[in-house]
Amino acid sequence: MNHFQVRDGELWCEGVRLADLAREVGTPFYVYSSATLSRHFEVFRDALAAHADQLGDPLVAFAVKANSNLSVLATLARLGAGADTVSEGEIRRALKAGVPGDKIVFSGVGKTDAELAFALEAGVYQINVEAEPELVRLARIAADKGVRAPFVVRVNPKVGAGGHAKITTGGAGDKFGVDAEEALRLYAEAAATPSLRPLGLACHIGSQITDLGPLEAAFGVMRGLVERLRGQGLEVSRLDLGGGLGVPYFNQQEPPSPEAFAAMVARTVGGLDVRYVFEPGRMIVANAGVLVSRVIHIHGRPDGGRRFLVLDAAMNDLMRPALYDAFHDIRPVRVREGASKLAYDVVGPVCETGDTFSRDRELPEAAEGDLVAFMSAGAYGAVMGSEYNTRPLAPEVLVREGQWSVVRRRPTYDEIFAREPAAAWL
Ligand code: LLP
Repeated sequence: MNHFQVRDGELWCEGVRLADLAREVGTPFYVYSSATLSRHFEVFRDALAAHADQLGDPLVAFAVKANSNLSVLATLARLGAGADTVSEGEIRRALKAGVPGDKIVFSGVGKTDAELAFALEAGVYQINVEAEPELVRLARIAADKGVRAPFVVRVNPKVGAGGHAKITTGGAGDKFGVDAEEALRLYAEAAATPSLRPLGLACHIGSQITDLGPLEAAFGVMRGLVERLRGQGLEVSRLDLGGGLGVPYFNQQEPPSPEAFAAMVARTVGGLDVRYVFEPGRMIVANAGVLVSRVIHIHGRPDGGRRFLVLDAAMNDLMRPALYDAFHDIRPVRVREGASKLAYDVVGPVCETGDTFSRDRELPEAAEGDLVAFMSAGAYGAVMGSEYNTRPLAPEVLVREGQWSVVRRRPTYDEIFAREPAAAWL
C-alpha cells in the first residue's frame, strides 16, 4: 500500500497535488511519501517482531544504495533503522542523517584501504568481508589502529535469485562473497588474529526476489555453516540475511508479504541465538516514490508505424528500463474523463534508442503538456541518475501530511560547470 492516490481525477501524494508540485519545482522531479516510507519500514520490522521468540531483536539496516537522499535516510533513522552501506560516501550519508555508527553495516565487493579505515573510525556495527585479500587488508589496517575489526564473512551460497540477471548476486558465477568452505577457513584464521573480531556470516542472493524458495535454500546453507563453525568451537553471534524482497511493479508477479518472509526466516534459521541483520532496500522505498514528467510532444509516423510520447524525463533520470528492461507503471497525473486508450512508445529526449521507457504502452490519450508519473520509482531511481546529455539531475521532493520540501535541488548549469575547471593549458 502507498500514499499516492487519485482524488477528484488527480494524483496526490499525502495531501499534496502532484500538479502543484510540478508547477513549483518544474519537471522532471522525484517525489517521496514519508507515510509510505514509514509504513513499509514498520511493516517489515513488525513482521519480524511477531517472531521475536525465534528472531530476538533484529537490526533492520536500510540498504542506502536504493535511495540515499539524506531526508529519506533521516526519516528512516528516526524510526530506528540502521543502514547498509557500500562506500565511504554512503557511510557518511548515514551518519549525517542520524544513523548511529553502531547501526551501520559496511558491505561491498571492493572496499579500499581508506574506506576500511574510515569505517573502523566511524565505529560501524560490522564490516561484511567479501574476499580473502580484503580480510588480510582489514587485519593490517585494524592492527595499525590498535583495534579489533568487527566483521562477518559474506558467503556466496550458490543460490542466485532476482528480477534480472544483472541484479542476481548469489549465483556461483557472481562476483559476491566467498564460497562456504573458504568462509569457514577464513573465519577460523581470523579467530586467531588479534586485530580481527569474527562475529558471524552474511549473504545476499539478489534483488527483486518474488519467490521465497531461493531465499529459504540460501538461509538453510547459512544455518548449516553457523552450526559447523560452532561445532569447531568458534563463536557466532550474528547472521546477516541481506535484502532482496521484491515489490509489486504493477503487472508482475506479486512478491511474498513481509509476514510470509518473516515466518520463513523464523522457520529456517530462527532460534540460533544470534543477532539477525536484514538489509532491505527496494521494499522500503520503491513504492514510496514516483518520478513526475511532462509530455514535451507527441509525434507519429505517417506510415502509422509508431506513436511516440516524448517526455522531459529520460534514461539519465530513471535508468531501470534501459538497463534491466524494467517495467514501471506510467499514470496520467490528471485523469481525463472518458479518455480512450492508445498505444504509445514512451521515450525521453536522450540521443539513443535505449532511452525508451516502454514500447506499445496502452495509456489514456495524452496531450502536449500533460504530466505523467512513473510509479514505484523510489528505489534505484534518483540514486542511479546521471547528467548524461548535460541534463541536470532531477530534484527530489519529500512530502509529509500535506507539507512538502525540496530535499535535493536541481543543480544550476553554473553549478554543473563549476565542477569542471578548465585544463591549465586552455
Ligand atoms: N544488501 C546487499 C549486499 C545488496 O547488494 C543489495 C542490493 C541490498 C542489500 C538491497 O537489496 P534490495 O532489498 O533493494 O533488493 N539497481 C538495481 C538493484 C540492484 C541491487 C543490488 N544490491 C535495480 O534497479 O533493480
